[in-house]
Amino acid sequence: MKLLIKNIKGLVGTYPEKPEKKAGAQLLELPTLEDAFLLAENGKIKGFGTMTDLKEEEEAETIDARGRFVMPTYVDSHTHLVFANWREAEFRDRIEGLSYEEIAANGGGILNSAKRLQNASEDELFEGALQRLYEIISMGTGAVEIKSGYGLTVEDEIKMLRVISKLKEVSPIPIRSTFLGAHAFPREVERSVYMDMILNEMIPRVAEENLAEYCDVFCDRGFFTREETRQILEQGWKYGLKPKIHANELDYSGGIQVGVEQNAVSVDHLECVGEDEINVLLNSDTIPTLLPSTAFFLSLEYPPARKMIDSGLPIALATDYNPGSSPSGNMNFVIALACIQMKMLPEEALNASTLNAAYAMELQDSMGSFFPGADASFILSKPMNSISEIPYAFGGSKIEQVYIQGKKVTNG
Ligand code: NIG
Ligand code: FE
Repeated sequence: MKLLIKNIKGLVGTYPEKPEKKAGAQLLELPTLEDAFLLAENGKIKGFGTMTDLKEEEEAETIDARGRFVMPTYVDSHTHLVFANWREAEFRDRIEGLSYEEIAANGGGILNSAKRLQNASEDELFEGALQRLYEIISMGTGAVEIKSGYGLTVEDEIKMLRVISKLKEVSPIPIRSTFLGAHAFPREVERSVYMDMILNEMIPRVAEENLAEYCDVFCDRGFFTREETRQILEQGWKYGLKPKIHANELDYSGGIQVGVEQNAVSVDHLECVGEDEINVLLNSDTIPTLLPSTAFFLSLEYPPARKMIDSGLPIALATDYNPGSSPSGNMNFVIALACIQMKMLPEEALNASTLNAAYAMELQDSMGSFFPGADASFILSKPMNSISEIPYAFGGSKIEQVYIQGKKVTNG
């Protein structure tokens, strides 16, 4: 099966071979071929070039992309896509003045989601998550990470992870799974008892049943301490789960430091970042991942993306799609916020949402950019003048069609 896209106004993110992640000033580099073609075979990129170099491809299904751009699908490296209920009542409470932390302290927030998830069946959870999966694909996402963390008992965490495993079986896009038993402390058990449950029951079960690639902890004020985070991540490593953590959303929690110390693949959120945190990240392979729709929705300070990039850091962007702090899985809006609120240039935001995001979930061998052998997963834009129109048209959509591994996606 061959697919040929021809007359592409701009083919965005092309490389002769797999590129490295981009840090600092490199984030502005977005190699783009004008008046280009892209050829895919059996779901993989076979070749690309300018139209003058195109040889006849008689057997290929051919699409004329005149006036349109083609770019890699987004990689959303941080979501909580499996959940049982929306939390719009808490949204109203926040409008009326309560903070996210006050709502959590009153038993709302993550504990509210946990109560509902514990009463939901695996099938119900699967159906809701599958719908959201197709929703994000239609908005341009071509790979996604999904966390547990609304179970908060051994059986319910396992139930959530089983739902993610089932999604993997039917999903047209790659999914990575993250164990987040350390999302909040449930009220029913002592803190030390829950820690023991995470360390000695949940992590071994997750590994035994091969239910996750990563281990996450919400390391922040009012949630897990730095020391608790270290213990959990060390135990995760022992069972083959790499760390990828929530850090510094609500405070200078030391989460970034412990994440880097534990060789986390990424540290995510980072609304609270100063010189110390930047320096620690500069001396590491850990990818700082920013979630601006959470800052937007909770009215938090945005992470200092400009300062981080100007200091030489790589940045990835993700949605944090969840019912409490980011009830949107729209990477286009994340890119718009990155540009409008965090002063990232459109090229920087696109690199952070594709190439660097692929590194943040270890999919760089097949996703995030175009090179021979990569997955032919791409966005065909509506007619536009430049890629700046994606963030410029915030709240709308410049996407005409999404292709996953060479196939046009229709709603599943
Ligand atoms: O990434 N910060 C911790 N966890 C989620 C929010 C979860 C929730 O409120 O349901 C987040 O923002
Ligand atoms: Fe999150």
